Amino acid sequence: MPNPPSGHFHRRLRGAVATRLNDAFGLGIGDIPAKPAKRGADLLFLRRWLANPLKVGSVLPSSPALARLIARNVRVGEDQAVIELGAGTGAVTRALRASGIPNDRLFVVEIDGRMAAYLRKQFTGLQVIHGDATNLSQLLPAAWHGRIGTVICGIPMVNLPLSVQKRIVDECFSVLAPGGRFLQFTYLPVSPLPKARLGLTGKRLGTTILNLPPASVWDYQKIEPEAA
Ligand SMILES: C[S@@+](CC[C@H](N)C(=O)[O-])C[C@H]1O[C@@H](n2cnc3c(N)ncnc32)[C@H](O)[C@@H]1O
Repeated sequence: MPNPPSGHFHRRLRGAVATRLNDAFGLGIGDIPAKPAKRGADLLFLRRWLANPLKVGSVLPSSPALARLIARNVRVGEDQAVIELGAGTGAVTRALRASGIPNDRLFVVEIDGRMAAYLRKQFTGLQVIHGDATNLSQLLPAAWHGRIGTVICGIPMVNLPLSVQKRIVDECFSVLAPGGRFLQFTYLPVSPLPKARLGLTGKRLGTTILNLPPASVWDYQKIEPEAA
């Protein structure tokens, strides 16, 4: 059998690479166009970053690969819910939904009004809270206090002063179930939170290079004062 022409081989190789990159980043590379919803989300994200670079913290939403890494590390019991802080245009929210967390056990908090409105439109029935994570315990219905299995923090905490970081961390632990997870993703190669100063222990759960830039997911626990 004659060998296929090398042009054919290169086209197939390019196609395979484009498929893998689109699966990882969802950007629309090669002959595979980005989905219109993805393009709209990216454009809104970029606009909101231009309006408020420190709060948004990134020019692009998280890649599907990072979102899946986060979703894999979520722990949620039968009578518990999950909170996502700083949901942006819903890149992580989508992976959480795909992992089987239903709308009635998922709360997303977003400070930017346009992004919150976008989330409501994209995810019918999702519990979108337009507000500031520093007021989490007031924003979350009281019935869910102490019943949160995991908080995923997408807020760029490294851009915040220690006092605000502390406020957000304390608010999260005030609603988390005992032993609940506080997950934070970061583009830094080290812990994005100053553990000792916030009274936390923490460990990196995983890293993906399939994100722009590469990112890691950290899990933090509160250091409880020793029982008397
Ligand atoms: C790096 S983006 C992450 C967006 C999305 N989770 C993702 O992974 O693509 C950070 C998001 O946090 C939001 N944010 C920043 N400060 C916040 C706060 N105090 N409370 C709630 N959301 C906040 C920003 O508006 C932005 O949408």
